[in-house]
Amino acid sequence: EINFFFPKQRTLAVIKPDTMEEHRENILEEIRGGGFSVTQLKETVLSRQMAEEFYKELREKPFFSQLVEFMCRGPCTILVLTKENAVEEWRSMMGPTDPNHAKATSPSSLRARFGSDILHNAVHGASSEQQADEKIHFIFGDIGSDAKLTSDGETDR
Ligand code: TYD
Repeated sequence: EINFFFPKQRTLAVIKPDTMEEHRENILEEIRGGGFSVTQLKETVLSRQMAEEFYKELREKPFFSQLVEFMCRGPCTILVLTKENAVEEWRSMMGPTDPNHAKATSPSSLRARFGSDILHNAVHGASSEQQADEKIHFIFGDIGSDAKLTSDGETDR
């Protein structure tokens, strides 16, 4: 079935270092159960320089250095997820930035269930389609951004 009105969209998701050991598999299962196709996957330890570049929009924030430190602490899983309305759908599956707020307002979200505080909040998701494209290119290079999406959402290289 082809849906002309809601084309597939891509987003960039990260399973952050705090959840890698205990919850990586759970989160991947939830992602697939939520109807996302995982079209790229990379497990890596970010260098300080990579983490700073990845979060460059936030470099003036008071929590920036803590955030960079945390993101380099151990391996993370970086994913390209494909689905209709993927950016918004993944943000909604993650829940609000602060897990304590998430527990109160969206207890079934990933951050409510797996995050421990506003810094250690389990998962990342791009906040717009444009930011998703930029970060996908940053992490996966030309393969990630040039791959054409076929109708079933898998990449066609
Ligand atoms: P931000 O882009 O504002 O939130 P989100 O990840 O929901 O898009 O912030 C990026 C990350 O920075 C956030 O996931 C966790 C961390 N952070 C803090 O440590 N303290 C804070 O006060 C905020 C707002 C974010």
